[in-house]
Amino acid sequence: MPVTPSNFDWIRRLAESRTGNLLDATKTYLVESRLSSVAESAGFASIDPLIDSLRSTTNVELERTVVEALLTHETSFFRDPHYFDELGATILPELMKRRQTQRRLNIWCAACSSGQEPYSLAMLLQEQLGGLNDWDVRIVATDYSRPMLEQARRGSYSAVETQRGLSAARLTRFFQRDGSRHVVVPELRRLVEFREFNLVNDPPPMSRFDLVLIRNVLIYLSECHSREILERIHGTLAHDGHLLLGSTETLIPTPDKFARVEHCRITCYRPVPSVQ
Ligand SMILES: C[S@@+](CC[C@H](N)C(=O)[O-])C[C@H]1O[C@@H](n2cnc3c(N)ncnc32)[C@H](O)[C@@H]1O
Repeated sequence: MPVTPSNFDWIRRLAESRTGNLLDATKTYLVESRLSSVAESAGFASIDPLIDSLRSTTNVELERTVVEALLTHETSFFRDPHYFDELGATILPELMKRRQTQRRLNIWCAACSSGQEPYSLAMLLQEQLGGLNDWDVRIVATDYSRPMLEQARRGSYSAVETQRGLSAARLTRFFQRDGSRHVVVPELRRLVEFREFNLVNDPPPMSRFDLVLIRNVLIYLSECHSREILERIHGTLAHDGHLLLGSTETLIPTPDKFARVEHCRITCYRPVPSVQ
């Protein structure tokens, strides 16, 4: 179902204004393939009548469905495992040492998709750092996409999803069988709080975080939006906190806000204090 250039341009501007996601001309195929099923289930003969309808009448729900369909939700458990190795070996133990008096740790997993990333962190905390019984650990996991958050809150994954990144030992320890699916155990789920959140214009979900993961989302956003998001993260990160990006992402738009810290196999970032 090809889309007219004028409708493609309108969709491109809609996506950028709502979520900051950029769709350049090379993404025509993506728009066509993702919106075909939206058009079909909303009762339109093809994509152009769907877009024509959005352009001429206000339909908040349908517009939201279209914007969500254009996002990329690719994720997996322990994605880029060397990040989790480093988190477990140095970053989290050092952070916990510095928080030994307060015994509180606030982690923000921004753009969590269907939940594999925050649950991976929760598994790591349970395994590597003991029972955590006397610690107040909170992982706030946020995303724009309501369908992704629904799955994340259910914590229910197919065999294909659990095979991507989970060892047999972790599957046995942290999941219960529910027919053909695997469901996260309550011990893990209680560590993660899922919230709907738009990176482009919502204020940070808490005033202070010790660790922020914002991985594999800035690559889809404009530099201007990335800069604003990173500035807000800078304002919410503890002075001795850490920021982790995806393995192919950099902090080009805000070089003065964060300092690179090289670990064995990953780069993470520490906030640079703002000049008053
Ligand atoms: C490719 S996934 C990355 C998931 C996970 N962080 C990882 O690395 O595996 C990108 C996620 O960013 C979310 N996203 C995109 N734009 C967003 C925005 N403006 N606000 C919040 N979430 C957004 C998408 O819904 C998607 O779930």
